[in-house]
Amino acid sequence: MARTVVRVLVNGYGVIGKRVADAVLRQPDMKLVGVADVVADWRIKLAAARGFPVYASLTDRVVDMEKKGLRVGGVLEDLLKRGEVDVVVDCAPAKVGARNKELYEKHGVRAVFQGGEKHEVAGVSFVAQRNYSEALGRQFVRVVSCNTTAICRVVGGIHEKIGVKKARVAIFRRAVDVWESSRAGIMNTVVPELQVPSHHGPDARTVIKDLDIVTMAAKGSHNLYHLHIAMIETKSRVSVEDVVRVIEEEPRVVFVSGEDGVEGLNSIFEISRDLGRPRGDLYEIPVWRESVSTSSDGTEIYMMWATPNESNVVPENVDAIRAVTELEKEAKISISKTDSNLGVIKRIY
Ligand SMILES: NC(=O)c1ccc[n+]([C@@H]2O[C@H](COP(=O)([O-])OP(=O)(O)OC[C@H]3O[C@@H](n4cnc5c(N)ncnc54)[C@H](O)[C@@H]3O)[C@@H](O)[C@H]2O)c1
Repeated sequence: MARTVVRVLVNGYGVIGKRVADAVLRQPDMKLVGVADVVADWRIKLAAARGFPVYASLTDRVVDMEKKGLRVGGVLEDLLKRGEVDVVVDCAPAKVGARNKELYEKHGVRAVFQGGEKHEVAGVSFVAQRNYSEALGRQFVRVVSCNTTAICRVVGGIHEKIGVKKARVAIFRRAVDVWESSRAGIMNTVVPELQVPSHHGPDARTVIKDLDIVTMAAKGSHNLYHLHIAMIETKSRVSVEDVVRVIEEEPRVVFVSGEDGVEGLNSIFEISRDLGRPRGDLYEIPVWRESVSTSSDGTEIYMMWATPNESNVVPENVDAIRAVTELEKEAKISISKTDSNLGVIKRIY
């Protein structure tokens, strides 16, 4: 693809879609053609009020969306038919992207799917710092879920630099997203996910094929961020300093410290708001420095980190757009452009 500026449409303007749309606006090598959805509630009306061209994802949704007072610029399929879009970032609810794929295939347009879709929908599952080159020039790529992204950044970095024999990660998930906490959620309990292992481990292997990883999950009664607790057996003896060095070198991973009063997910939430990011988004994975420890024989690492579920996949979507369009062939260059445009940092304070 010879373009120097790629034209991007975000299909599905929810938690992930609205963040990806804003991130695309901040990339000089990308142009946001517009956003598409099937409803016309306050979220989509806000997009229209911000001046985004809004399209109907499905033809039969136009009348209803207009009846609800939204100015609809047209139907997504017409845009694709006219060749006005280079890449669709599909941020529709889980499994809906698989249905939307037919449309992208029909019009030969590239698409980036999200972690709610199966690996097979795209054939390539993506975390920029792990397998950027696998996505180069592909028509379809899937950015893995927030949990899998965090695991691939942290455990993947240790695997690449030190060598992981076995990784075991427990995931405490948020129950429901903030914007829909009025509709669902749990209170004053923790609910174990009884499918063991949870799907996150096999999902991480769609990106890092030789990683021996087992994950177990439970959901808590909070609505923002997941907490990961990892026990990692290494191929050779390591020290805490070795692990700290890996984390310090790994893009999109940062340290926070209990000594500085970072006591829980709530502290990280407050930090992300203090950073002044759009929506208080945190693109980085904050690892608790004190949690990084090793067994007495130096063959196991223990550590904990937070996973900012609403936002950590946003830079990955930007890099995925560059990879599928071959706007940039080198992972390091794309990551550095994305991080500089979004203000991603290596040291919070
Ligand atoms: N919410 C998270 O924390 C999170 C984190 C990482 C990845 N993901 C993944 O991102 C994807 C989107 O999740 P989300 O949380 O943003 O969902 P969401 O429900 O917040 O947003 C989805 C949007 O898509 C719209 N939509 C419904 N049907 C559609 C269709 N046929 N075509 C286009 N749009 C349609 C909905 O109206 C809604 O606005 C899923 O695959 C999910 O698994 C979510």
